[in-house]
Amino acid sequence: MSTPQAAARHLHQGGLVVMPTETVYGLAANAGDAAAVAQVFAAKGRPVFDPLIVHIADAAAAWRVAVPNPQAEALAAAFWPGPLTLVLPRRPGVIADLVNSGLDTVAVRCPQHPLALELLRLSDLPLAAPSANLFGRISPTTIEHVADQFAEHGALLLDGGPCRVGIESTVLTWIPHPVILRPGGISAEALAPYLGGPPPVLVKPPQGAIVAPGLLASHYAPRKSLHWIPENQPWPAGAQWGVLAFGSDAPPLYPQVGGVGAVENLSPESDLVAAASRLFAAMRRLDAGPAQQLIARPLPAHGLGVAINDRLRRAAGLG
Ligand code: TXA
Ligand code: MG
Repeated sequence: MSTPQAAARHLHQGGLVVMPTETVYGLAANAGDAAAVAQVFAAKGRPVFDPLIVHIADAAAAWRVAVPNPQAEALAAAFWPGPLTLVLPRRPGVIADLVNSGLDTVAVRCPQHPLALELLRLSDLPLAAPSANLFGRISPTTIEHVADQFAEHGALLLDGGPCRVGIESTVLTWIPHPVILRPGGISAEALAPYLGGPPPVLVKPPQGAIVAPGLLASHYAPRKSLHWIPENQPWPAGAQWGVLAFGSDAPPLYPQVGGVGAVENLSPESDLVAAASRLFAAMRRLDAGPAQQLIARPLPAHGLGVAINDRLRRAAGLG
């Protein structure tokens, strides 16, 4: 394990750092260093047409990279540090073109984690950081999930404990009205007071627009197949099934008595915030366990339930 001081030096030398945030762990590089950013894409196996989020220490630093509008300024004041990413027009010359795939916009976010903020302040760099998983796989919410995946790329690891929020940040843009490109750790309802109403989730990008990786159909995928069934369809029975359940909507365990092989209840107490924080770790446990196939059905579609359903649908390969 590394320290923020060593990690800051490593970033200045073009190295990669696995950085904790409140959402998921990120694989960070100096956003101004094209070679370092290229290493991030290479290490993740991520296509270069998928732009990265630039992490900054505060709003002032964000506005050196991106051009704010009045709503963006109000949102930054209300939610930063926190799980909200703003996609705004990019200022020329500060970050490498590769970071935002040559787009004229850039995504900025101020993470709410003491180690991430310490690293941003010590390095005094804007940090490009996607989630620290291989492209298309489950995002890491503990340093153990990352393990030695990026060792051959010389990444230093910072252990910040389990991620509090557990799903990625909400990505918001203006086209020209506010829309959510990716539902995440801040709900549409929470954004509403700053935008004159809840922003819609962009289901299909407008013709010709770049598709964000968070919008790709098969994303956040476990190795085993995940089946997504309608709300009112009963759970199947059998040892082959590993169920992602919520609240009282859980099948019995033990296939001998009509139950299933494994159950991960994301929140027996029906708390969507708790469910979000447990989602990715629960998917990993089912992936590693004896059940052969995973199955889930919609959680209540409000608050963080929208982001959880989005991740489950994409893990099932549905758009
Ligand atoms: O919570 C998070 O956001 C985590 C932690 C590490 O901060 N990061 C993360 O990064 O999830 P990544 O690279 O896995 O997802 C970035 C999202 C993608 O959906 C990407 O397409 C979108 O942000 N994005 C980035 N720049 C964009 C741009 N200029 N226009 C549209 N979407 C953009
Ligand atoms: Mg990701």
